[in-house]
Amino acid sequence: MTLRLRINGNDHDVDCDPDTPLIYVLRDALKLKGTKLGCGLEQCGACAVLVDGKVTMSCVSAVDSFQGREIVTIEGIADTQEGRRVQAAFVETSAAQCGYCTAGLVVAATGLLMDRREADNETVKQALAAHLCRCGSHPRVLRAVQRAMAAG
Ligand code: FES
Ligand code: FES
Repeated sequence: MTLRLRINGNDHDVDCDPDTPLIYVLRDALKLKGTKLGCGLEQCGACAVLVDGKVTMSCVSAVDSFQGREIVTIEGIADTQEGRRVQAAFVETSAAQCGYCTAGLVVAATGLLMDRREADNETVKQALAAHLCRCGSHPRVLRAVQRAMAAG
């Protein structure tokens, strides 16, 4: 079956089973490898993308449910001014270690900045609570998010 997906501002026609979780279509069919597969159970945050501006896990929901929606992956995040600020702040604060969780965290932080211009650390922690980091980079991630907000 051919599905049409709008990703990072472009339309893509993809032949696939409509029940396939979105992440497999992103990574395998479209070669957008920046989105990472972690748990595959909507429990770790590694696979986050923006869907209509909202942070959304891509590892379980069927690709069919994303037709007609605006998907932004880590590859397109710098096309948004919030995403550019978040990426710069992650670099400036060395907020990535192994980097496996980083794409999901950058996407989530971008979604947060799109929602609000400022937030205290508790609010940022809650917004990023679904994102696990086995390297313990969260203190630097929190600094990065505050820096990105201050740059707005
Ligand atoms: S891979 Fe999707 S939340 Fe873990
Ligand atoms: S930087 Fe390694 S898992 Fe987060």
